[in-house]
Amino acid sequence: MAQHAYAWLRQLLAHREKAALSFHTPGAKSGAWGRAPVEGSVDDLRALDLTELSDTDDLHAPQGALSVLQERAAALWGAKEALPLVNGATAGVAASVAWLANAVPSLTVGRNAHLSVLTGLLYADAMPHWQPVSYLTAFDVPLPPRPETNAFATYPTYEGIYPLPATLSSRPTALDAAHGALLRLLGAPLGGEAVTVMGAHKQLPSPTQTAWLLIEKKASALPPLVLLKAWLDLLQTTSPSALLLAGMEEAVEQLREDGLHILQRSAVEAEAFRREVATLDQVAVLLPQALPPGYGLDPFKLLVRVDRCGLTARQAASILERQGIFAEYAYGVNLLFSLTPADDAGTRWRLFHALGQLPRGDHRWSSLPQPPESELVMAPREAWLARKEIVPLQQAQGRVAATYVAPYPPGLPLLWPGEKMTSEIIEYLIRLKEVGAAFHAGVSQPFEAFAVVA
Ligand SMILES: Cc1ncc(COP(=O)(O)O)c(C=O)c1O
Repeated sequence: MAQHAYAWLRQLLAHREKAALSFHTPGAKSGAWGRAPVEGSVDDLRALDLTELSDTDDLHAPQGALSVLQERAAALWGAKEALPLVNGATAGVAASVAWLANAVPSLTVGRNAHLSVLTGLLYADAMPHWQPVSYLTAFDVPLPPRPETNAFATYPTYEGIYPLPATLSSRPTALDAAHGALLRLLGAPLGGEAVTVMGAHKQLPSPTQTAWLLIEKKASALPPLVLLKAWLDLLQTTSPSALLLAGMEEAVEQLREDGLHILQRSAVEAEAFRREVATLDQVAVLLPQALPPGYGLDPFKLLVRVDRCGLTARQAASILERQGIFAEYAYGVNLLFSLTPADDAGTRWRLFHALGQLPRGDHRWSSLPQPPESELVMAPREAWLARKEIVPLQQAQGRVAATYVAPYPPGLPLLWPGEKMTSEIIEYLIRLKEVGAAFHAGVSQPFEAFAVVA
């Protein structure tokens, strides 16, 4: 076999060989939670990799088995309708933003938005009204802004923080709950007024790239939902994978069958584990009591601050990875571990032990202050399509960004197209790079070549 043939497959198999502990997506954790949709080998699965035939069904016009799946999923989620997303929560977010932006005169969007919001803004040629975000400074993490009506909001945050519904006076029209599946299944009334983009793969035994677009029971016809479906049809592939859909169905059936009481038990265990990790000297753990009043925390998210070890999160992650433990993210001085019912006392103990072995150091890495926010001086689409100049980041000060800069993970842009690049943002990005952040930056790599409006 040529040296580089099947490099990707070999890399995946090499990772599997490590029998690593996954504290990251997908929620199934290499099959520890959930059953395979069919018994047997990849060849069996390949035989089910069918297209839309007269005796299968069509995702874009479901009439048979897929409409049954949609109804059963809607019942699971307590929604009026559940539309399968096979292009990630990304497609649902982009469709919801474009739909809403088209219908309301000014779209309020919490600035803690994922970059998939940009796709919607670009398609709809919308000028967002950013709602500023405040930070929980003790942990350098954003708090979700208080939701407004006629708005698009994102919660829970990647770290699992959400506004407690009891304290909310209004809900956003559309909610990005890409990280909200376990909370909603545990009974938190976590949803938009009309629409909720519900992640599936991040926390559930549903294949990577899958999510649901939920039309809520109270959704009114304004803006017309038929237009939302039109956006979604445009943004999803015309060749949806039958295997992804089969995996989504398996997750729905399993959760309906026996999943929910498992969730409750696992949530109690995860919560107790978080308190146990908080007893370790060398790390600080985000616990619900650290949040301001009116916010809750997903019991399955474990955010660990490692600067007491004298390490950046990336350095601590490398130490853990050498022991076969992989975190969901390493960002700044924080490691985020995603627990699910796939974890048991054994996996939790290994993580506890490994965290307990991290060195005790001096406070070498100070915290990352709240990121500076910039002024939007041009519609994102105008900037995106404008004639551009490519400059090194350090020379972009005062220029209007033509793309975005998002540290990834978590994938929340610090600068959106149409915003002015300031010296504060440049300094902040340099600081992030020092602590090992990687970036998504649209059409360019920000430090070497950043696109600004000419
Ligand atoms: C808040 C938020 N929304 C949407 C997405 C996109 O989800 P997906 O990766 O399923 O497309 C992500 C991805 O991490 C996210 O963090």
